[in-house]
Amino acid sequence: MSAKLQAPRGTYDVLPEEAARRVAVEEAARRILGAAGYRRIETPAFEATELFARGVGSSTDIVQKEMYTFEDGGGRSLTLRPEGTAPVARAYIEHGMQKLPQPVKLWYLSSFFRYERAQAGRQRQFWQVGTEAIGSADPAVDAESIVLLAELLETLGVRDVRLRLGSLGTAQTRAAYRQELQAYLRAHEDRLSEEVRGRIDSNPLRAFDADHPGTREVMAGAPRLLDRLSGEDAEHFATVRALLDGADLTYEVDPTLVRGLDYYARTVFEFTSDALGAQSGVGGGGRYDGLIEQLGGPATPGVGWAAGIERILLAAGEQAVAAPVVDLFVGHDPARPEHRAAGFQIAHEARRAGLGAQLELAGRSVKGQLKQADRIGARFVAILGEEGATVKDMESGSQEVVEPGAVVHHVLRGRTL
Ligand code: HAM
Repeated sequence: MSAKLQAPRGTYDVLPEEAARRVAVEEAARRILGAAGYRRIETPAFEATELFARGVGSSTDIVQKEMYTFEDGGGRSLTLRPEGTAPVARAYIEHGMQKLPQPVKLWYLSSFFRYERAQAGRQRQFWQVGTEAIGSADPAVDAESIVLLAELLETLGVRDVRLRLGSLGTAQTRAAYRQELQAYLRAHEDRLSEEVRGRIDSNPLRAFDADHPGTREVMAGAPRLLDRLSGEDAEHFATVRALLDGADLTYEVDPTLVRGLDYYARTVFEFTSDALGAQSGVGGGGRYDGLIEQLGGPATPGVGWAAGIERILLAAGEQAVAAPVVDLFVGHDPARPEHRAAGFQIAHEARRAGLGAQLELAGRSVKGQLKQADRIGARFVAILGEEGATVKDMESGSQEVVEPGAVVHHVLRGRTL
């Protein structure tokens, strides 16, 4: 016997049970985001590697360690998308969307790829639902995006949600702050972890993220970017906060909030769920006012977020998802195979009339067929036999024999009673 093959590590099959829960996520997203004027976009599963190097940032973990990069037959370096913001920004520029009324509000639900250590809630292929609103610097767009994600998570029953909010200022503020932080880190270098020390030049902000005890102690006394914001940035942040307060959204200002992508400026945020283990981030995002320009487009502000579908489902627990409606289950007396075709015809007709109809396909006895109909929650069962079709109303238990050609009408009438 040949060896059994398995899905690659960090990937998994979406089986029908979970597929049904994902549909619920997609429908909630379409309804909530659509009502706020967001329209669906989908970009290719792979892009030129350069897009992520330039967009996400070459010093990030994503670009340095986590990309699935390959060369195609034409010698081009391509990468399976690790995230959706850089591709959507690329599409905005490529399709001249700056000519449309601004902001252009887009949402997506797609799969992404990162070579990470696989564990519960952390896969190598995962799914995100996300939004990008490009073309407005108004703090109301930041607040609106955050409120929409909060509403989506609430609708989907994600438990124990917490929102952390911060501001990174603009590139200039950050450059000055970065130098100040680098000087501080160098002054305390002996107490930092090797990893943090190695990143003082390339990515000093990540030091706030470290678990290493010595580093954490040093960081507790480090200068804070939030205290260094320019007047305009501080005002932008204050407006976002006031709008969230007005919407009664609870959040915590976290001056140490850093995100794993380099394009952020001003507002950043992260939703976590205490119902999740170590991978507690359900969704996060922020403003990326320099990204479009960095990718060769006109200077254009933008803001968005993405939330992991697997983590949403984990944190939502076993929220009931409606099973498919079965109005009619059609079987026949197994001793009389000549009735099989009539049964097939009735199920087909029923579906054309808009009913949910399933056919007996496993050669069960009549008793077994009734049991199966009950298991799938069928409202009516029609068993074809010598005398016609015996139609049983599974709700009332009443039974009637009708002409095979009258079954669909009978169910349509009975269903509305
Ligand atoms: P991110 O924080 O890297 O942001 O990812 C967003 C969410 O995707 C995370 O909160 C998490 O739920 C999920 N996620 C990330 N990596 C994995 C993984 N390996 N397995 C399972 N779930 C994962 C972004 O990707 C930005 N593009 C968000 C954004 C949009 N910012 C502005 N616009």
